[in-house]
Amino acid sequence: KQPLRVGIAGLGTVGGSVARLLARHAEGLALRAGRRVALTAVCARDRTRDRGVDLGQATWHEDAVALARDPQVDCVVELIGGDEGPARTLVETALAAGKHVVTANKALLAKHGMGLARIAEENGVALAFEASAAGGVPVVKTLREGLAGNAVSQVSGILNGTCNYILSRMEAEGLSFAECLADAQRLGYAEADPTFDVEGFDTAHKLAILTSLAFGVALDPEAIYVEGISKIAPLDLKMASELGYRIKLLGVAERTQTGIEQRVHPTMVPRISSLAQVMGVTNAVTIDADAVGELTLIGPGAGGDATASAVIADICDVAAGVVRPAFGLPAARLAPPERAPMQRHEGG
Ligand code: HSE
Repeated sequence: KQPLRVGIAGLGTVGGSVARLLARHAEGLALRAGRRVALTAVCARDRTRDRGVDLGQATWHEDAVALARDPQVDCVVELIGGDEGPARTLVETALAAGKHVVTANKALLAKHGMGLARIAEENGVALAFEASAAGGVPVVKTLREGLAGNAVSQVSGILNGTCNYILSRMEAEGLSFAECLADAQRLGYAEADPTFDVEGFDTAHKLAILTSLAFGVALDPEAIYVEGISKIAPLDLKMASELGYRIKLLGVAERTQTGIEQRVHPTMVPRISSLAQVMGVTNAVTIDADAVGELTLIGPGAGGDATASAVIADICDVAAGVVRPAFGLPAARLAPPERAPMQRHEGG
């Protein structure tokens, strides 16, 4: 069999890790997928930086769209980020050109995922996005594959590593919000614009994706009530602690009598609960479903290798020939979307 030819757009923290993991696990991936994976093209601004892997065999592209059109590429890995601009153009161009796309871009998917899913389906290619929610935690596969025989009633969790890292260190070490955020940025956890993290939008993007997979509804980030953690002070954490609680930024989606309710806000969780034990950059997702009952996945929600791990899982699926409808529904059923109603906000 011919190798799957992969092009990576964006060689930052995650992209560099993807390139290294592809090299490190080449044999294992070939066994799992039934064919080899070859990195044939890359696109990144800084050509000189040492990424710890030999990229000599790959074609360097100046712009992302050229990579999307490269005839030596079967599968485009989009790690540029951003919900418009080069990332969107790259993904649309690649899908329309009949190339599979693997992306970690939750902002792009939350905003344009339905349209992109349609282009993918029209062209018979995969739009794969395991890395877009909860980083290294395989929650997309769990919802779409592992829980195929279930009706989900609720998905809830800690979906932003940066916020959980900030809240954890503020509580444990009494540090200021600004100091903790600066460390999260230095460690490569935060978004390019950290407002997305701390104001809850990144959690909302991920929640929109998980909601669509869990409940079989259209992506609808506009329907999510969103409140971030930027107003949380060390005193709030101390008071919560004295009352037996921790403050966590949670994303929650649940089936109600009127539709699917989605919300993101700082939440007091009892210190003895399992979510309260989740500290640092770790994410956790709890799913309530009729057949399996309650299931919780816990693991690293951000960082180069952890996120790259999820990207590689998608590349392996593509190499093995797996083409699933994005968001779990054939395009014919994607329109008209079932809108989630405006959200109410409890507590806070
Ligand atoms: N900024 C994100 C986070 C990266 O902190 O969770 C992973 O999506």
